[in-house]
Amino acid sequence: MLNLILLGPPGAGKGTQAELLVERFHLPHISTGDIFRAAIKEGSPLGQKAKVFLDAGKLVPDDIVVGIVEERLSQPDCQEGFILDGFPRTIPQAEMLDRYLAGADRQITAVINIDVDFEVLIRRLTGRRVCRNCQAVYHIVNKPSQKSGVCDHCGGEIYQRQDDAEETVRKRLEVYRDQTAPLIAYYRERGKLKTFNGEEPIQVVFDQICLALEEQNG
Ligand code: AP5
Ligand code: MG
Ligand code: ZN
Repeated sequence: MLNLILLGPPGAGKGTQAELLVERFHLPHISTGDIFRAAIKEGSPLGQKAKVFLDAGKLVPDDIVVGIVEERLSQPDCQEGFILDGFPRTIPQAEMLDRYLAGADRQITAVINIDVDFEVLIRRLTGRRVCRNCQAVYHIVNKPSQKSGVCDHCGGEIYQRQDDAEETVRKRLEVYRDQTAPLIAYYRERGKLKTFNGEEPIQVVFDQICLALEEQNG
């Protein structure tokens, strides 16, 4: 069983690596950012609440996020493992997750921490494009789709996220530094942290993650 967390600043490649890990390990991919964007698109009450925070590049309050993740992790497809992408993002979220998993007699297998310099992140995020339909991730220079504006996987429309405007990107990086980076020490102290150089090419990062997981599982 693999219970994985993808940790890293905005643009580190969490979503990109999650796509590859899903292909390899067939685990459900739980991205709290994707959940919020879907809710915003639907115009649900959750979406209306979350939109203000996403547009400002700020974190959605812990009590809202925690409820959503607990509910998602309790579903049948998560009982054989999961990939959390963008959660936890604060110490209280991490403590909640530990309590929840302990209650179910489970634990985190590994925290995959993807490390990338902030200047590189700004270039990545301002050049990122995403499929509106299946959330596949592209980059205008590093990973263009075969046909411009059209998703390779599903033929869906490719768009630019609203929070990828440069000013919002800078805000998100600040929020990461203040509220999320402390999780690196949190998971290191608990012996869960595995750090990868996210400035290597996508496939190299993926191979290194797979190698580390194999070593750990024997
Ligand atoms: P979320 O959607 O999680 O955004 P994020 O954490 O800011 O991360 P990103 O999705 O921007 O980056 P990524 O690491 O997935 O990178 P990607 O693979 O796309 O959250 C959005 C918002 O939702 C938050 O701001 C907050 O408001 C709210 N939220 C979500 N979770 C929350 C929580 N737990 N608590 C509170 N609020 C929450 O890659 C980026 C680009 O780089 C792509 O173009 C890609 O092609 C390219 N790329 C990737 N890897 C490489 C590589 N190795 N080399 C070159 N290019 C690469
Ligand atoms: Mg992402
Ligand atoms: Zn698609």
